Amino acid sequence: MKTKDYIEKENRYGAHNYHPLPVVLERGEGVFVWDVEGKRYFDFLAAYSAVNQGHCHPKIVKALTDQAAKLALTSRAFYNNVLGEWEEFITKQFGYDKVLPMNSGAEADETALKLIRKWGYKVKRIPKNEARIVVCDGNFHGRTITIVSMSSDPESYSDYGPFTPGFVNIPYNDIEALEAELKHPNTAGFLVEPIQAEAGVYVPGDGYLRKAAELCKKYNVLFVADEVQTGLCRTGKMFACDHEDVRPDILVLGKAISGGMLPVSCVLADDEIMLTIKPGEHGSTYGGNPIAAKVSIAAIEVLIDEKLAENASRIGKIFRDEMRAFESPLIEEVRGKGLLNAIQIKTLEGKKAWDLCLLMKDNGILAKPTHEHTIRFTPPLIITEAQMREAIGLIQKSMTAFI
Ligand SMILES: Cc1ncc(COP(=O)(O)O)c(C=O)c1O
Repeated sequence: MKTKDYIEKENRYGAHNYHPLPVVLERGEGVFVWDVEGKRYFDFLAAYSAVNQGHCHPKIVKALTDQAAKLALTSRAFYNNVLGEWEEFITKQFGYDKVLPMNSGAEADETALKLIRKWGYKVKRIPKNEARIVVCDGNFHGRTITIVSMSSDPESYSDYGPFTPGFVNIPYNDIEALEAELKHPNTAGFLVEPIQAEAGVYVPGDGYLRKAAELCKKYNVLFVADEVQTGLCRTGKMFACDHEDVRPDILVLGKAISGGMLPVSCVLADDEIMLTIKPGEHGSTYGGNPIAAKVSIAAIEVLIDEKLAENASRIGKIFRDEMRAFESPLIEEVRGKGLLNAIQIKTLEGKKAWDLCLLMKDNGILAKPTHEHTIRFTPPLIITEAQMREAIGLIQKSMTAFI
């Protein structure tokens, strides 16, 4: 079968809920992926930052296959002999009392929302069913009904109503708007992405996260960071909140926590928050399965042992410097932190970011638009300087040919 045949099969039998670039991948190694015709590409999406450690990292593959051959799933109806090992490892590593494992990022965010409400009622003593959660316009936390109830993007929420009540939207990066909502006695939590990745890689002003966390403390409101995409070395520190020395009350993780090997997510919090949920009140059949536990330990060890935060910081700066110095009438703005970057494209003669992505694909770079005029560039964090310089050459060549 050829590229065209695979695409036809997906179109024929699969739901049309994605709009992929027309490339069919069959193999990955490090920063590269290969299509079914054998063509090699730089992967500049890295599965939306799930593959920070690079494709098929041997240490993570070994953790997966060793555990899969031994014990894959017990459910939480019984104990297994590796979940506790992961729980101890991750809580000590990231400095929280407890962890609650789930699978997808959306489930971890749902878990955080439940924890905010439980804490609001049990600890803050908010009147029953009156808890409010403050969120930001432009947010992306996943695809469940409750999560799209918080969304300001019509593509995410249209025709999915009625929506879950209890959310208050404020503009991103607006401290005054936040403080006004935190003052409300029924506000239980503030859920925020340290950088709004899906919205187009919007980095808030210096000091925003620190100030927001301080205000949350002042008004006894939980500061909850969704680091599903920004976390785990992507922005040049272990967590994007680390840039401002902020320790969230609840930390939401997913994606790269398993190095792209299988869906793993979790929330971390201290006992006062986490122990408000009692046995039987929340869970997931696959959450905390033995393969996830072993894979996640290996994936986090790779991030630390291979110093991927430092590499993301250094190589990300090269990317931004080179792209800012590149004189192209196509480029409106280059923005980002570490290896979470985006380029805002000017529309020339009706051609859009999508068309440029098609051309880059032909030149061996895979990247995707996020919204009409923005392209996200998020390669695996193991990328070397030489690889990045080669990739920058291909991106610039594509931009020159585009106009
Ligand atoms: C910040 C953030 N939160 C949550 C999610 C949802 O994760 P998942 O697709 O694993 O449900 C994403 C996915 O892109 C994300 O970027």
